Amino acid sequence: MINNFTNNAFLTFARIIKLRLPDNMVSLLNQIDNNKLPKHIAIIMDGNGRWAAEKGEERLFGHFHGVESVRNIVEGCAEIGISYLTLYAFSTENWDRPQPEVNGLMTLLAETLRKEIPLLNKHNIKLHIIGDMEMLPQFAVDALQESIDMTNHNTGLNLIMALSYSSRWELVNAVKKIGLAVEAGVINAAEINQETLENYLTTKSFPDPELMIRTSGEFRISNFLLYQLAYTELYFTDTRWPDFRKENLYEAIIDFQNRERRFGKTGLQIQQEEAI
Ligand code: FPP
Repeated sequence: MINNFTNNAFLTFARIIKLRLPDNMVSLLNQIDNNKLPKHIAIIMDGNGRWAAEKGEERLFGHFHGVESVRNIVEGCAEIGISYLTLYAFSTENWDRPQPEVNGLMTLLAETLRKEIPLLNKHNIKLHIIGDMEMLPQFAVDALQESIDMTNHNTGLNLIMALSYSSRWELVNAVKKIGLAVEAGVINAAEINQETLENYLTTKSFPDPELMIRTSGEFRISNFLLYQLAYTELYFTDTRWPDFRKENLYEAIIDFQNRERRFGKTGLQIQQEEAI
């Protein structure tokens, strides 16, 4: 893998503004090939509860500290030029958690997104939400709408928050809408294909993730982007979400760049295609 200060835009920029980066960060950034960055990274931010319990604290303490990781990773993705970042912030199943935790999380999500609008604008980040908005309390919907509207003009990183989201909800919803479109004569049932279904998913404007990271040592997908992850590279780390930082993100990207993605083809076919 060929990479140096000259082909790493962020390192060059950091040098120009004399930003002091720790040596391990520079070394990791130097290993990243800017021409092979994943366009879309999706993350299951897991382990807030366990991180808090290990410190003898309440679960919300972990979520609160998880926000610092969100900030750090969003900034990290924007800096190195990732185009799409999807964060699994609240699943459909999370509604079944104890009410104080649900209320605390809703307030934290709404307040954080509203408070971070200046940071999002500073980094040219456009916010999107996927999920069942009808389930959210009105104060959260208002805060989210404000953040979406105020970042709508941005053209850099697309930050997609999966909120009250689950794949099974999304797929059932899509099938219902397709059924209605068939009934109304808008779609011919015999012509339904993958593209039809994709057009009815909440992710229709985004490419599929190329890299999916799950923190905190669980090896599950947990109802997250089940259709969209068909050919995604999966990366699991023991690091708890509140401890996850840019360095950990860079390690995941380096790991991704060292994999051979075959999409059902043979290794030889891929090598021949790359040689053209
Ligand atoms: C999973 O850890 C984490 C969540 C369900 C919530 C994630 C939310 C945050 C990181 C705060 C997000 C803020 C913004 C602005 C996106 P867990 O509670 O399942 O942890 P455990 O598996 O250790 O119990």
